[in-house]
Amino acid sequence: MPTLEVIEQLAKRRGFFYPSSEIYGGLSGLYDYGHLGVLMKRKIEDSWRKYFLDEENFYEVDPSTIMHEKVFEASGHLKSFVDPVARCKVCHTTHRADFIVEEFLKQKFTGMTPMELQELIKEHKVRCTNCGGELEEVGVLNLMFPLDVGLEKKGYLRPETAQGVYVNFQRQFEVLRKRLPLGLAIVGKAFRNEISPRQLTIRMREFTQAELQIFFDPEKPTHEDFISVKKYELILLPATKKKQSHVEIAVEDAVKKFGLSEIYAYYLAKIQKFFLEKLMIPKAKFRFRELDEEERAFYNKTHWDIELKLGSLQDFKEVGGLHYRADHDLSGHEKISKQSQEIFFEEKKFIPHVLELSFGIDRILFSLLDIFYEKEKDRTLLKLPSNSAPITVSVFPLVNKDGLDKKAKEVHKILKKELETFYDDSGSIGRMYARSDEIGTPFAVTIDFETKKDDTVTVRERDSKRQHRVKIDSLINFIEKKFS
Ligand code: GAP
Repeated sequence: MPTLEVIEQLAKRRGFFYPSSEIYGGLSGLYDYGHLGVLMKRKIEDSWRKYFLDEENFYEVDPSTIMHEKVFEASGHLKSFVDPVARCKVCHTTHRADFIVEEFLKQKFTGMTPMELQELIKEHKVRCTNCGGELEEVGVLNLMFPLDVGLEKKGYLRPETAQGVYVNFQRQFEVLRKRLPLGLAIVGKAFRNEISPRQLTIRMREFTQAELQIFFDPEKPTHEDFISVKKYELILLPATKKKQSHVEIAVEDAVKKFGLSEIYAYYLAKIQKFFLEKLMIPKAKFRFRELDEEERAFYNKTHWDIELKLGSLQDFKEVGGLHYRADHDLSGHEKISKQSQEIFFEEKKFIPHVLELSFGIDRILFSLLDIFYEKEKDRTLLKLPSNSAPITVSVFPLVNKDGLDKKAKEVHKILKKELETFYDDSGSIGRMYARSDEIGTPFAVTIDFETKKDDTVTVRERDSKRQHRVKIDSLINFIEKKFS
């Protein structure tokens, strides 16, 4: 199991991600992705698009990240998107009040009001973790980044991609054949001025979300394929069972037991399958956790978080959520913009309801590094599935002479047309294998003296270290077969 430091060092050493503006000492909560990080992120995003959008005929839009102030008045973010803060009277460090209380009392305190946190601080004499000083009264701070747009208008960097979809809904409904359910997605940046960014890319100030908003008729809260998932077992930790372990329950039973709509339960199943069958997360490391009324975001009526068990954090961590937002956002925009958000569909006029599938790409990427990290006696490896490994095949010459390097470059060129590849000729074969394993590359192809005789190469599998002799002209076929 890796520690946070191990992931941090690996991410830096191999260039997955590292602090932004690093040569100036960095800025907390901001990270840059290097080449491998970009490749891995793109693979996760593409799997997400293929699975959640292409399979259902849903669509992607790309609105501006800077949005009108009124958007956030309508959504409620101006008033309610706040975190509790406690400032130190001595060194003036600003702490997130629930985090500092948690750190002091070694217990979770999410969903508490500022007043409740204030009482705990007083009762347990919680002090500044920086200097030991007394803390000021607990207040609240809005998490959005305000911006001057031109000289006279005020805007905000979007704190969630979702609002970009809501303000586009009417136009997209018109152009996309006026039908429900309609799924509109954004894969893009969101910005939050987090009070205590921490745990590397888990809590950042600029991060990537993949969010799908599904607009549906509230009188028909089901899915045409519900029948295909109704026996599928969901892994659920209901709010009432906080201190207990999860339950495994068939979708159709979860509907009855937890009062879920069929459409909601259908997407719980769809999400769980994505994590277990596409990202290959071990079942024991996955669960949905229900949030009760105190914990839920201000816009949600039903809210189950997607959580993954991470060794580096010694706990389950939220990486996404399934949110039933009802008409909270469209009605809010109708009220503030004075533009009707109703549609006319199947002989009725109404405001559609929204089910939101929300995923944090950075947290998923981090989780994959954590979950697939392994340390063996003589090597470190990431056992990433090929659909999230940044590189699929590395290619190297056994030695950098006798024409092997030239041949290796030729083979690399052939593979590069179809697969994500990396050419390496720096160091001994052992070192090249070690580097390839450490960045999670499932296959390594070596060009050796045999190659010159019979046009075959050695293909080594990362996890088992098994080696195969394969003809160059059937290499792509061989590797693709191995994937499936
Ligand atoms: N549109 C709904 C929404 O934004 P959220 O729970 O606030 O809901 C969704 O965020 C996901 O975005 C989270 O589950 C998490 O994966 C990711 N996320 C949120 N804040 C983040 C942060 N500060 N740094 C990295 N990822 C974050």
